[in-house]
Amino acid sequence: MDNSYDQIIPKVGLGTYNMDSRESEFMTYEAIKYGYRHIDTAAVYKNEDGVSRALERIFNETQLKREEIFITTKLWPGGLIKLDRVRDYKDTFKSFEKSLMRLNLEYIDLYLIHSPHGKSKRIEQWKSLMNLKESGKVKYIGVSNWGINHINELKENNLPLPDANQIEIHPWSQKPELVKYLRENDIDIIAYSSLVPLSSWRHKDGENSKKTDQMYKIGESENSPFRLLAQKYNCTEAQFLLQWAVQQNFAVLPKTVNLDRMKENFDFNFEISQNDMDYVRTLDMGGSITWEYGDPLKVQ
Ligand SMILES: NC(=O)c1ccc[n+]([C@@H]2O[C@H](COP(=O)([O-])OP(=O)(O)OC[C@H]3O[C@@H](n4cnc5c(N)ncnc54)[C@H](OP(=O)(O)O)[C@@H]3O)[C@@H](O)[C@H]2O)c1
Repeated sequence: MDNSYDQIIPKVGLGTYNMDSRESEFMTYEAIKYGYRHIDTAAVYKNEDGVSRALERIFNETQLKREEIFITTKLWPGGLIKLDRVRDYKDTFKSFEKSLMRLNLEYIDLYLIHSPHGKSKRIEQWKSLMNLKESGKVKYIGVSNWGINHINELKENNLPLPDANQIEIHPWSQKPELVKYLRENDIDIIAYSSLVPLSSWRHKDGENSKKTDQMYKIGESENSPFRLLAQKYNCTEAQFLLQWAVQQNFAVLPKTVNLDRMKENFDFNFEISQNDMDYVRTLDMGGSITWEYGDPLKVQ
């Protein structure tokens, strides 16, 4: 039996950023009932408790077992802003225990260091995750928003490499060099913010990012590339963007608080032609868009 991580992680998971606990409970419950088997949360999203309540109801009401659901959560490493204390080896362990408690689970499937902002403590944080994996409290460990230089630090310290790196990838931010490096090093890619090019992406008050008005205008245009491609493939724009990622073997995490969209983001089954994949490659704008505080890949 192949137990490697990429054989296990479901291709489409539910993202929960920008959901409060009530929303994460509602959407986790509905998504799992619909067929989703991966839920992505994080300590910093402050909604692990909602995910936990949904899981409890699922396990009580259905035949589904814990091992059929893949749960990802993340260590907040600290260091993003001045007063954000960087977690050391012990703090990392404590943060994990708190997430585990909030999720009310015996183990986590995938535990990630949310960003490289821990700087000089990155190695300590990683060693703490290695320890958690050895103890069986976590099945797979990884990082998020780590670039080549950050992962190379692990190599320099002769440490095992992450099972996965969760990064911002969509047609406007394709990161070919990083993708090549991750593939060469057998680190699986989980793509977040797949839907950035849509005009509906994070359009509510308080949903911040570095997406510009100009970018929103492209998404709104009648002739936007993804509107035309969606017409061609008889799918929605969101489905085109998700298939674009899945076709490259990236797992995806579409977030929505809308039941119809949750279904739409799960129900797609078509192939994008090589010609169109080549065309989308030309739409890359380079940098990252999601993080309002600036591109985490650029942290020293
Ligand atoms: N590791 C990290 O640093 C990091 C950073 C960002 C995200 N993530 C993870 O990745 C997940 C996804 O990323 P994301 O939240 O940035 O955005 P996303 O999934 O790319 O897009 C979500 C946005 O698109 C809208 N939307 C969803 N489905 C749609 C559809 N079918 N049609 C039209 N609009 C649709 C949503 O609005 P409604 O909710 O109103 O439907 C929301 O505004 C997050 O929730 C989180 O779990 C991780």
